[in-house]
Amino acid sequence: MSTAASARPTAVVTGASSGIGAATARALGAAGFHVVLGARRLDRCKAIAEEIDGTALPLDVTDAESVTAFAHAVPEARVLVNNAGGAKGLAPVAEADEDEWRWMFETNVMGTLRVTKALLPKLIASGDGHIVTVTSVAALAPYDNGAGYTGAKHAQAMLHRTLRGELLGQPVRLTEILPGLVETEFSLVRFDGDAERAKSVYRGMTPLTGEDVADVITFAVTRPSHVNIDQIVLKPRDQADAMRVHRTG
Ligand SMILES: NC(=O)c1ccc[n+]([C@@H]2O[C@H](COP(=O)([O-])OP(=O)(O)OC[C@H]3O[C@@H](n4cnc5c(N)ncnc54)[C@H](OP(=O)(O)O)[C@@H]3O)[C@@H](O)[C@H]2O)c1
Repeated sequence: MSTAASARPTAVVTGASSGIGAATARALGAAGFHVVLGARRLDRCKAIAEEIDGTALPLDVTDAESVTAFAHAVPEARVLVNNAGGAKGLAPVAEADEDEWRWMFETNVMGTLRVTKALLPKLIASGDGHIVTVTSVAALAPYDNGAGYTGAKHAQAMLHRTLRGELLGQPVRLTEILPGLVETEFSLVRFDGDAERAKSVYRGMTPLTGEDVADVITFAVTRPSHVNIDQIVLKPRDQADAMRVHRTG
């Protein structure tokens, strides 16, 4: 790490290789943080790290050893953005695929648990720690064919919201970000690389971008230390809730 890097507070972003995480790494870099970018696609993280004078490290949040090695390589942490996650499939409960459910719970829930536990001592030691967790509007209510994802996002949200109480008295803030439709690689992953189907999710409407979400995360982590923004729900104007979207054409 360069001397310039160590003079800046450190922000750790998981799932920084794409979408919301990549945009957040760039936005926090521009806001004066030394950003540590973690994801499985290290080449992508390295390219962004070079742009913002950050640090790229390999991270698979579903692998306990990978998380331990990642956390050891992070010298200090003022901010943690639990962003790694996603959905697999869109099927009614009657046709649920157990492997897809396992992927969603391992990545969104257990991944957030592992990374948060591993970095919590460093966040506390910073004297002004901040944990941001990107859940979803899927953490607010059920939607048809989405039980695997809504279940995982509710569980991830409960982990995060429980910490808000458990960490009272510690110098750590907690902010949950609950986005609606954001055009990233999210739907491509959900539909197993089917680009046509992924594109149709955003048909005839204007979705949020990763930058829109990054902007809100940056706002939350740059407030004075005594200000805790507990939750931010952000949706496209065209989206009322997970199941109601206005489309033209
Ligand atoms: N897009 C939306 O509409 C939307 C709405 C609400 C909430 N969200 C949430 O926002 C977060 C970011 O999603 P996105 O929309 O930016 O999707 P994305 O473009 O698919 O990005 C997902 C990120 O998560 C990382 N990731 C996945 N599995 C991982 C693992 N095992 N270990 C480490 N990193 C892993 C991916 O990196 P690698 O593949 O390189 O590991 C990638 O960087 C997710 O938690 C998602 O559930 C998305």
